[in-house]
Amino acid sequence: MSSTVREPAVQPRPVARFIRPARHDVSVVYQRLVRSTLFGMGGGDPEVAHERTLRALSRLSCLPPAVAALRARYAVSAPRTVFGIDFPNPVGLAAGMDKNGVALRTWPALGFGYVEVGTVTWHAQPGNDRPRLFRLTDSRAVINRMGFNNAGARALADRLNRLGPLAVPLGISLGKSKVTPVDRAVDDYRWSLRVLHRHGDYFAINVSSPNTPGLRGLQDRDALSALLVGVQEENRASGAPKPLLVKIAPDLTDDAIGELLQVCHDHEISGVIATNTTLSRDGLAPADRATGAEPGGLSGRPLAARARAVVAFVHRETGGRMPVIGVGGICDVEDASRMFDAGASLVQLYTGFVFSGPGLVRQISRLRRRG
Ligand SMILES: Cc1cc2nc3c(=O)[nH]c(=O)nc-3n(C[C@H](O)[C@H](O)[C@H](O)COP(=O)(O)O)c2cc1C
Repeated sequence: MSSTVREPAVQPRPVARFIRPARHDVSVVYQRLVRSTLFGMGGGDPEVAHERTLRALSRLSCLPPAVAALRARYAVSAPRTVFGIDFPNPVGLAAGMDKNGVALRTWPALGFGYVEVGTVTWHAQPGNDRPRLFRLTDSRAVINRMGFNNAGARALADRLNRLGPLAVPLGISLGKSKVTPVDRAVDDYRWSLRVLHRHGDYFAINVSSPNTPGLRGLQDRDALSALLVGVQEENRASGAPKPLLVKIAPDLTDDAIGELLQVCHDHEISGVIATNTTLSRDGLAPADRATGAEPGGLSGRPLAARARAVVAFVHRETGGRMPVIGVGGICDVEDASRMFDAGASLVQLYTGFVFSGPGLVRQISRLRRRG
């Protein structure tokens, strides 16, 4: 496999080794005070808590002194360049947290070195019926079957137009609308890319959400190949192609990932995001087993080992030539350190951020490379 991937987009580097920072800024205040307030909102309904938090962060975006105060507390400079993009630090907000990009001025102030918005689809859509988001506190995990609820690619483009330049690089995650048949998926991704192209620093092709029927089938060799031909055509038609990344599921076999990497190489994909949520329910705490029966994708601590194994596999198979964003179950600084050691060039957080707050972003950004 390693002989078949394209020439280095970045220099292969020795597996990173990191020194843990001092433990003085653990997220105790967030966990004891803020988190219990957030988790209690809406009678404990996680989606209500999510909506209210996003609304608050969105309002905060419009208050420059508050944004500046947060930035002074949380922002960390640890620059690196991946897929030709300069990142102020390697810790990103994962897709799904701010699908419509409503709080884009606040995330960098909370310490994130980049933000991935979406997943957006060509058609605005409401997603699945509620309840569709479940917290598994003892397991530090979440199950979701949101189903790409979003305001659509054009609405995001309008918002980004109004917003102007951002403090950190912006990734935009693209998916297939539910009403679009799988055999017309290419059009959906293309049209979204067309209206959003000038706004994104990179684009994530999401073919790995378990909550849109048929979507994961787009990871198969022929379907992925056809999709990437169309999306790259659109990308190049712009005259200034942007890095395209493919986000993969943790439930693929090694053989399937190997095949997918070959297709990514053939179509000049710049990197892989590993991983999306899992259908597995391994590793749940006994108290969470009943909630664990809810259909949907599982994220958080139980996903960590598998996500890391996928990152290590991609790194090994491509000889380090395909940059990987490691995401899945990063709940503390050690998890992040192990993800970098597995070969991730950048990391992203979702569930760990919900449980630990912005102190975690700061701690991970401050990891120093050893040697
Ligand atoms: C509520 C929720 C919604 C999500 N929505 C998306 C999405 O729209 N697109 C996507 O690519 N990933 C989505 N994800 C997956 C995350 O981006 C991430 O890959 C996954 O949760 C693993 O990371 P974590 O363990 O840090 O949460 C979602 C995750 C959660 C918990």
